Amino acid sequence: MTVKISGTGSALPEKTVTNFDMAKLVDTSDEWIRERTGIAERRISTKDTVSTLAAKACQAALENAGASAEEVELIIVATCSPELLLPCCACQVQSIIDAPHAAAFDINAACSGFLFALNTAYAYMNTGLYKNALIVGSEVLSKLVDWSDRSTCVLFGDGAGAAYIQMVDDKDAQCENGRRSGIESIVQGSDGARGAALSCGERGVSNPFAVDSEQPSKYIHMDGQEVYKFATRQVPACISEALDKAGIGASDVDKFVLHQANVRIIESVAKRLKADISKFPMNLDRVGNMSSATIPVLLDELNRSGQLKRGDRLVLSGFGAGLTYGASVIVW
Ligand code: ACO
Repeated sequence: MTVKISGTGSALPEKTVTNFDMAKLVDTSDEWIRERTGIAERRISTKDTVSTLAAKACQAALENAGASAEEVELIIVATCSPELLLPCCACQVQSIIDAPHAAAFDINAACSGFLFALNTAYAYMNTGLYKNALIVGSEVLSKLVDWSDRSTCVLFGDGAGAAYIQMVDDKDAQCENGRRSGIESIVQGSDGARGAALSCGERGVSNPFAVDSEQPSKYIHMDGQEVYKFATRQVPACISEALDKAGIGASDVDKFVLHQANVRIIESVAKRLKADISKFPMNLDRVGNMSSATIPVLLDELNRSGQLKRGDRLVLSGFGAGLTYGASVIVW
């Protein structure tokens, strides 16, 4: 038995905000943003929430897989920007899509969230607890961004992506090229001691007995250069470890589906792995950094445009606040 991605879906808000639009809000330019990040435009929600975007992505993933919400056994939403603290977003999604038989919960590993959710579901499914799962990354980061801070507001976008994964027997997983669909290796890690490099507050201690209760900032604060250094060192290291675990080299990989934060980070990772940049699909020019949603949205775009064939070997890799990081080798 193995766990296979049977369908993908995504949902983006309608409103496109270009770099030229951003230059009307803060002291920036299309040239600066493109050169430093690779981003040209992003989608910004005018009414969609994390749960409505997530639900739309899930419905599209189920349709893509030819499955019904009725049969879903597990829903994991990765998000760092839920509209409610209680109930969790996954339970809201369960209600919207009407999946009464699912267990549902959220995880927050920021931009590594989708990958951590996929790995969590995989581990559950390997115990025999569930036969399928909806894995979602959904974010409305626009509400966490300080729109007067040019160093962060130009980077992020809103959106959601989902994958429907199923336990299948070896015969169903067999691909024409001899490979077997499924997850070949997983590496994930965290460096909590460096968490201050990328943070966003919620509420500090607040009750009638609290003393010195300083409230944290509710906006994203990022030491961009620190995160950049972390990503360019940690991402190639964890991808190399995942490749070693799978017993393969970078040349055996068809596509590297990386978290879409910055084109320079992706180029640096490709260089360190000595892998051709053409194997690193990107969409950040159109959608910006959507944290946990970037990997599943990109996967869905590749899937729907026919750029993924059964038997293709992919590396999924994320990194972000925490600081968290991870890489998984999968066969599509
Ligand atoms: N427009 C124009 N100038 C700007 C802007 C802007 N939007 N933002 C910053 N600047 C200025 C700065 O003020 C600074 O000016 P100064 O030299 O006069 O002080 C100058 O540009 C250089 O700023 P740096 O921060 O050094 O720029 P850098 O080249 O490091 O690029 C960036 C910044 C794009 C943020 C980069 O550091 C980066 O991509 N870091 C990684 C971020 C990331 O990957 N985050 C992912 C995780 S997200 C998550 O988990 C939610």
